[in-house]
Parts: sequence; C-alpha cells; structure tokens
Amino acid sequence: QDNTMLAPTPPMGWNSWNIFQTNINEPLLKQMVDSYVSSGMKDAGYTYFVLDDGWMAMERDKNGQLVADPKKFPNGMKEFADYVHSKGLKFGIYNCAGTKTCAGYPGTRGHEYEDARLYASWGVDYLKFDWCYAEGMNAREAYKVMSQALKATGRPIVFSLCEWGSHRPWVWGKDDGQLWRTTGDIGPYFDKPVTKNGWTPLTVLNILDRQDSIRQYAGPGHWNDPDMLEVGNGMTVNEDRAHFSLWCMLAAPLMAGNDLGKLSEQTKNILTNKEVIAVDQDALGIEGFRYYAFDGIEIWVKPLTGGDLAVCFLNRSGRAQTLNYDWTAHLINDTTSKTSVDFTQTTFKIRNLWSKKDLGTTQKVFKQPIPNYDVVMVKLSK
Ligand code: GLA
Repeated sequence: QDNTMLAPTPPMGWNSWNIFQTNINEPLLKQMVDSYVSSGMKDAGYTYFVLDDGWMAMERDKNGQLVADPKKFPNGMKEFADYVHSKGLKFGIYNCAGTKTCAGYPGTRGHEYEDARLYASWGVDYLKFDWCYAEGMNAREAYKVMSQALKATGRPIVFSLCEWGSHRPWVWGKDDGQLWRTTGDIGPYFDKPVTKNGWTPLTVLNILDRQDSIRQYAGPGHWNDPDMLEVGNGMTVNEDRAHFSLWCMLAAPLMAGNDLGKLSEQTKNILTNKEVIAVDQDALGIEGFRYYAFDGIEIWVKPLTGGDLAVCFLNRSGRAQTLNYDWTAHLINDTTSKTSVDFTQTTFKIRNLWSKKDLGTTQKVFKQPIPNYDVVMVKLSK
C-alpha cells in the first residue's frame, strides 16, 4: 500500500471538536453532514467528516470492543458511517494512543489491532490518534504500532498523528501517517487567547510562528498539521480570512471546525474560496515561508506549480496600513524549495485571490489597503 497516495495534497474535511467538543450526537451530526453537502463545502473539495472525542461509551463491551455511546448514537457507528458515505463523503473517527482519550473515554493502548479491524469494518477512512494518558509510552513506537494495525486491515485509512509536537513527529511521522500535529490546541483567537477552566489555547499567530522551522518536513503525502480551522467560531471576518489564508500558505490540512448548520455567508465565502484553496492544494506540496517582514507586515511566499507563486501579506502591526511594495527591490531565494525569483528579470501578473481582481504586474509598485489582522493574498503567474 502506497502511503503517499492517501493524501497527495493536504486532507480537507470537517471535524466536530472545535465547535462541539464532546457534545455530539447522531441527529446533530447528520444535520452537519447534510449541511456539508448543501452549503457547497463538498463541492469546494472538502471530503472527510471526522468525529472527534466523545463518540464512545465510557467502557468497552464485554468482548473488549469499543462501542458508540448508545444514547448519542442509538443506531450505532456503522449506520452513521454508512450515512456519511451515502452523501459521497469519507468518514473519520478519533481515538488515543494512551489508556484513555483526552476527554476520558476508552483509549486504544493494548487494543491496536482489534480497534483497527473494528474501524475498517465500519468503513472508517481517517483516524485521528491522540496522545493523552500515554505515560511511559514511546511516541514513535506507539504511532508505528497503530499505523501497522491500520495497514493490516487492508483498508486505506488516513492516519492523523495528534501528538502536539513534543516528540518531533515531523522527523519520523512520514513512515506512519499522512499528517502530524505540530503544536498544542488552537482556540478561536487570532492574537489574544482567553483562558477557560485554567487552560489557555494557542492563537493563530502563536501557531503560525512555530511552523517556519519545520517546513522542510512537509510534502506530498505527509503534512505538518498546525491544527484545525477556527473559521466561523468567533473571530472577526478579517481574522478568519487571515487564518484561512495563512493555513493555505502553509499547505495545512484544512479541517473546518465550525457549526455547518449556522454557516454565515461570510464564513462560507472564506471556507469555499476555490482560488485560495487551490494554493493549499497545489500539487507541488511546498509549505510556504516567511520571506520578509517590515513594520508589522509579514510577507509569506508559497511556490506553486509552473513557477507561479502565492504571496500573502499579513498585517500584524496593530493598525490599518497601506501596502506600498516594490517587488523588484527584493530577491526571493528559498534553498528548501530551490526557488529563486528576481523580479527585475521576470514579470508576473498579479491576481488578488480575495477580491478576485487582476491587479497589473510586478513591474509596478503594489499599493493595497490592509486592515489590521488581515491579509492581502495574491497569486503571481508568469
Ligand atoms: C486533544 C487534541 C484535540 C482534541 C481533544 C479531544 O486536546 O489535541 O484536537 O482532539 O484532544 O479530547
């Protein structure tokens, strides 16, 4: 089985955690599945529907098998998986390498092969595998065992390693799975997190600042995962747009995490912008990099197929600004992706991927307003 083919481009889908945590149940989730299709998310390229923590009963059954919580899923998990598949989507589920999941449900430790077989029998296409209650375990070995258990089922199952980065999964995760978390958990905050129950999530900017140093580990079939999207979960439209754009610049897996039943036009326009998604899904699979920064503006660059480039100007300066950028004043020279561009030699056409307007060429100084905590994202093509 060729692992690379399971995720040649970053996986796209929806996951229940960010908005619902463990408050999930069959009617609610079937409504999410229906909205996933009717809202245009599916047409925009999202494929996976992933149940996160909280789907299980608190105990395994008398045969040691995992069971869906009978109150939340009265018809069982196979029926739910069939429903997801009947809508042309792929089905994902969650468990944990340790003895319990992070929310305290039965973990997989010691049950890897039987759990993998059970998931395969339900038609699971994607497994997110967490790292709570893992005292004394070796991460690299634990993820390898589960990866082998999944492969032994013969069913292609995308394996999402959720170890939060302390064991540097980007160094070894490629043999086991298709994506690995790079940090702790995101919250719906761009810059200033809110502490709840003594726990402070990471912000969009916290996570962004931890990706640059590991970008060389990502590529087709194996992706750095800066955590799921918080678009539609309470940030401003500007912040949501910036978050989504930056995740696309990072070639991040795009797992939406909002209430699809309450999708505003604005949120929908962000999550389904096909030109921005195309940057994320570019076949070269190069993770973008911070190329230049001045005055609170950062310029992120992602080389694309055919010598094109995505360029994302991020304003994190704390005030609205007007870009006044002379392309020809800076060379791009990225040794990791072997990309070099000299704008005095090569002229590119500029397309703004949010306003969907063509904006001339890189021969002219680039003037664009850019609100605080927002981006101007363009595609440069020859
Ligand atoms: C961890 C993960 C989250 C989520 C929860 C579920 O915190 O990092 O993404 O899966 O567990 O309990």
